Amino acid sequence: MSVKRIDHIGIAVESIEESLKLYKEVLGMEFKGVEELTDRGLKTGFIQAGDAMIELLEPISEKSTISKFIEKKGPGMHHIALLVEDINQSMNTLKEKGYRLLSEEPEEGAHGTKVVFLHPKSTNGVLLELVESDH
Ligand code: CO
Repeated sequence: MSVKRIDHIGIAVESIEESLKLYKEVLGMEFKGVEELTDRGLKTGFIQAGDAMIELLEPISEKSTISKFIEKKGPGMHHIALLVEDINQSMNTLKEKGYRLLSEEPEEGAHGTKVVFLHPKSTNGVLLELVESDH
């Protein structure tokens, strides 16, 4: 299994716009724009941080996992995403070794990526996302 680097760190927020005051205006980081992932009930906003990114996650539906997360724990660190060479191969290896994945097939992530999440029970409580990107 080939992990290239950390792709992004996901942070659950109540408002992307509000959060940009810190990242964009004060810290001067580059904001890459907002994308709506309607079937996941959320908006994402990516901020470049060197080779990696910060992914701000704002719920747009009460059913989204991000709404539930914020209700339970408040805004904060949500997941860490690792960039992998081949997501299907990584999923197979993990399944063979008995790790629990949150979906059977890779799901569509922001900007055309393929993503899958590992169950936090398999990862010391950290929600881990694998990302495959062709750019
Ligand atoms: Co993510």
